[in-house]
Amino acid sequence: PLRLAVLASGRGSNLQAILDAIGDGVLDAEVVGVFSDRPASGAIERARRVGVPAVALRPAEFTDRADFDAALFDAIARVQPDIIVCAGYMRLLGAAQVEAWHGRMINIHPSLLPLFKGLRTHEQALASGALEHGASVHFVTAELDGGPVLAQARVAVVPSDDTASLAARVLDREHPLLVSALQLFAARRVRLDGSSVMVDGQPLSRPLQL
Ligand code: GAR
Repeated sequence: PLRLAVLASGRGSNLQAILDAIGDGVLDAEVVGVFSDRPASGAIERARRVGVPAVALRPAEFTDRADFDAALFDAIARVQPDIIVCAGYMRLLGAAQVEAWHGRMINIHPSLLPLFKGLRTHEQALASGALEHGASVHFVTAELDGGPVLAQARVAVVPSDDTASLAARVLDREHPLLVSALQLFAARRVRLDGSSVMVDGQPLSRPLQL
């Protein structure tokens, strides 16, 4: 099975989707560790509930960002993951760590990248008047939310939407999107070649629509 390290800061519903897919036998993977910058996060609680090793480090207890990132990634390296999955991890990652894990670290982002990078993506989408919104799974590179996109899921924006309704509609699609993307990794069908996403040995010309 594919060894996954999951980084999460928040409620952990994407982590839960991964754990459920593994439990249901539809994802040939193992979550070998959950890592967080927030000890009180739902993600840490979900991991502990099912006996997955969970490590939470408090940024305030480190002298600086580099020191924190070094400790975090030392802990990650100890569980020897094949890939790192950022599932609602809300801190910037260190450049050295991003470089070291090039092609082996993915992120789920709640927008149709390259649209609406950064925070408050649902607000950004509503403010832009977009008729469509969604989520993307992409490889992590030095550029925030700027790495090559593997797969996306689209939802319609409806006139009655507010950020909460839109976020909920997107989140519903994030869970199967992330699981489907990980199934491709588990089947060893995806890799990154420089900045090209390769699926079944062919470069992707546009993100998979899942
Ligand atoms: C998800 O919507 C994820 O796409 C987003 O945070 C949420 C985490 O939810 N990630 C980002 O915004 C990354 N910048 P969860 O904790 O329930 O999985």
